Amino acid sequence: MKTRITELFGIEHPIIQGGMHYVGFAELAAAVSNAGGLGTITGLTQPTAQDLAREIARCRELTDKPFAVNLTFLPSLAEPDYPAYVEAIVAGGVGIVETAGRNPEQVLPALKDAGIRVIHKCTSVRHSLKAQSIGCDAVSVDGFECGGHPGEDDVPNFILLPRAADELEIPFVASGGMADGRSLVAALALGAEGMNMGTRFMATREAPIHDNVKQALVDASELDTRLVMRPLRNTERVLNNAAAERLLEKERKLGADLVFEDILDEVAGIYPRVMLDGEMDIGVWSCGMVTGLIDDIPSCRELIQRIMAQAEDILRERSAAL
Ligand SMILES: Cc1cc2nc3c(=O)[nH]c(=O)nc-3n(C[C@H](O)[C@H](O)[C@H](O)COP(=O)(O)O)c2cc1C
Repeated sequence: MKTRITELFGIEHPIIQGGMHYVGFAELAAAVSNAGGLGTITGLTQPTAQDLAREIARCRELTDKPFAVNLTFLPSLAEPDYPAYVEAIVAGGVGIVETAGRNPEQVLPALKDAGIRVIHKCTSVRHSLKAQSIGCDAVSVDGFECGGHPGEDDVPNFILLPRAADELEIPFVASGGMADGRSLVAALALGAEGMNMGTRFMATREAPIHDNVKQALVDASELDTRLVMRPLRNTERVLNNAAAERLLEKERKLGADLVFEDILDEVAGIYPRVMLDGEMDIGVWSCGMVTGLIDDIPSCRELIQRIMAQAEDILRERSAAL
């Protein structure tokens, strides 16, 4: 299957693994890339730019295929040294960067000067158009269903993707709620050139995270995610757990008076404890509604091959039947 995205990134299948905090290590990125998709190392999971340089080198030992690095611009307690991370990406010879969060204008000149292709992940048509206007090569359009930060507009992909298709000239992939061959065919039908998955790739054998997390995704249904931090305009879709319930209770109690410091116990520094140590209730962690479609823990190769085979079957059988 050739699309503008497979051509742009030099990959076999139009399937991208989005950056995920404390999930997107070299092992997962390489496994996705080796299976013909585009794997992504999460830049800011690495505490320093030197650590990112080492992670990029480790990934290169595991794959000779293209892979990406994610750079996320979200409100954080201490502003990361973005120029140093960009230097590590450029020096590491990485060809593709996924940016997300704020407008990536501050890092774009350095990335473009180095010939790096940039795919910006955003949750609205207006931000997609902005990304296009500042010179991004592609966008990842993240619908309301997505795990992580869905923005504040709450537009699901059945509306958001065709709206993006109507307005954008650069290619885009569908992100949020994507799980299988049905998702891929639907994404293509709605005008996307491929799909980006987060949650689905966590429940794979190579995702270097605790088995408790993978099992939680297999066990959860599409009803089990919650939106937290809405009053702070930093909405995050997370798996429901004791910490999410505690956090939502604080939001209800404090109303408009809620400040970030009130919820530090539920959000600060929890990712390594959940993802690496498997402490499932220690804090809130991103998870998409698509967890309701996850029933197993295949290898990345099995997952991608299954997606492509199902997509091709649907395209062939549906059109023949019609
Ligand atoms: C555990 C987890 C951590 C994530 N961390 C990041 C991140 O650090 N930066 C980012 O741009 N997106 C992050 N995301 C969003 C994913 O890259 C992707 O856009 C999203 O998961 C797509 O929705 P889906 O989960 O329905 O596939 C994260 C998602 C999950 C599930």
